[in-house]
Amino acid sequence: MRVTGTGHASMRIDTAAGSILCDPWVNPAYFASWFPFPDNSLLDWETLGQVDYLYVSHLHRDHFDAKQLRDHVSKDATVLLPEFPTSEMEDELRELGFTKFLKAPNEQVVDLPGGLKIMIQALTSPTDGPIGDSSLWVEYDGVRLLNQNDARPTDLTVFAELGHVHAHLLQFSGAIWYPMVYELPQAAKTAFGKQKRDRQFDRTWRYIDDLKADHVFPIAGPPCFLDDALWQFNDIHGDEGNIFPDQSVFLAEYAKVGGTNGIVLLPGSVAEITTEGATTTHPVPVEEFFADKVAHLEEMRERKRPVIEAEKASWRHPEVDVLGEMKRRIEPLLDESIYLAKGVGGPVRFDLVGYDGESVESIVVDFPGKEVRPYADEKVRYRFRTERALIEHLLHIGEVDWVNSLFLSCRFSAARIGQYNEFVYAFFKCLSEERLQYAEGWYDEHERAVDAEDITLDGWVVQRRCPHLKADLSRFGIVEGEQLTCQLHGWRFDLSSGRCLTSVGHKIRAHRADEQTPAPAGEALS
Ligand code: FES
Repeated sequence: MRVTGTGHASMRIDTAAGSILCDPWVNPAYFASWFPFPDNSLLDWETLGQVDYLYVSHLHRDHFDAKQLRDHVSKDATVLLPEFPTSEMEDELRELGFTKFLKAPNEQVVDLPGGLKIMIQALTSPTDGPIGDSSLWVEYDGVRLLNQNDARPTDLTVFAELGHVHAHLLQFSGAIWYPMVYELPQAAKTAFGKQKRDRQFDRTWRYIDDLKADHVFPIAGPPCFLDDALWQFNDIHGDEGNIFPDQSVFLAEYAKVGGTNGIVLLPGSVAEITTEGATTTHPVPVEEFFADKVAHLEEMRERKRPVIEAEKASWRHPEVDVLGEMKRRIEPLLDESIYLAKGVGGPVRFDLVGYDGESVESIVVDFPGKEVRPYADEKVRYRFRTERALIEHLLHIGEVDWVNSLFLSCRFSAARIGQYNEFVYAFFKCLSEERLQYAEGWYDEHERAVDAEDITLDGWVVQRRCPHLKADLSRFGIVEGEQLTCQLHGWRFDLSSGRCLTSVGHKIRAHRADEQTPAPAGEALS
């Protein structure tokens, strides 16, 4: 089996029974904030795009690049489609010209002609990607590969059960706006960033240890930020709180925990994988490449400047009545929302900075009051400050997912009262009837489900499944003193009260093992 690195989470897998192109991302994403790192735009995409199969793991724009898919991927390719709850991915791919689809039943091995086998695991909670993320398992001639990319399943058992895996490709770096955009003192931001960076690595080691593959390939990050306004997010400034460590940092950190089987793929690197081992060739020596990282980024920044400027020129739509449009689009959804609106539990304020960089229009999405209105000098749960032009653009194009556009762009600042609130982001990624109904239904089903099984962890009896997204705490739970941390997403719980310390709601059922009476289980949305 041959794996060609094509940048970020993208790769081309070649076997004698067919080729699969995964997540080809080349064009900037999220308001021209993210670019693939290392640069992959100079690869021979005409040849790379001539494949038998296409796999797009999910709809995040650093995985689903509509322009690249339309212009450079063969429309004869059969799309290997994860079993997602909505048809958005298929609809978007059809619009781009793809006509052949193989809908892979979730977690079932599919036999393709010539002895190629695949299995796709789709994750479908409202917090997985934009309503869905997935991983692809491939087997040919006894060689097995798992392209986990940035999916976060609770465990990898379903893949491990199919036999020893030879190549495990997974995310290790950050892909979020936290904590950089928060209006916090620099020292606090650094401390939170460092915590997050450590947690990302801990999670990666956990997955690697779960699967015990022969070779581990760090993929799906980090992106690079080429706009001058975002340049500070690149991990080139010696900031220990930067959440975007690169592949060379991965190798160094992995070595500290005893990892010796890491292989970095640069765009154009080719790994030949057999049951016996792997041989990899690179377009330039990997160490040399990372030693010159700053020069690479600076050169790329100059080359891509016109692309960024052209995108920026398309954002302003002064004819859009932002308050009126937000009312029209969002109020009907607020009216229908039960779980998400209750979960947010307070007003969310948008401060929109005008074209002159100074005037500010302040709009509130009032979740309890179910309306969108001008800010009325009140306390709010979250406050976002961003350019009015960005919101104009989202309204102009009818964007249904403000996470997969505005928030991932990092072109905003934020402040909040109290803990992280996942419902805020779940709501703003569901600005369509179809998505909102799905998310509401999902929470309804999961909040009602009683998870009765308990385990004992370091002197505490706790519910087995994490109140966040059901990770098995016998594997992901770490108890320190009276606190439990679930390593899947790093959420923390105070065991004596059951309170979630990371987000509102999500109380855990726990009591000391030597106590008879368990603490009452919490209301998830309390
Ligand atoms: S499943 Fe997300 S923190 Fe436990």
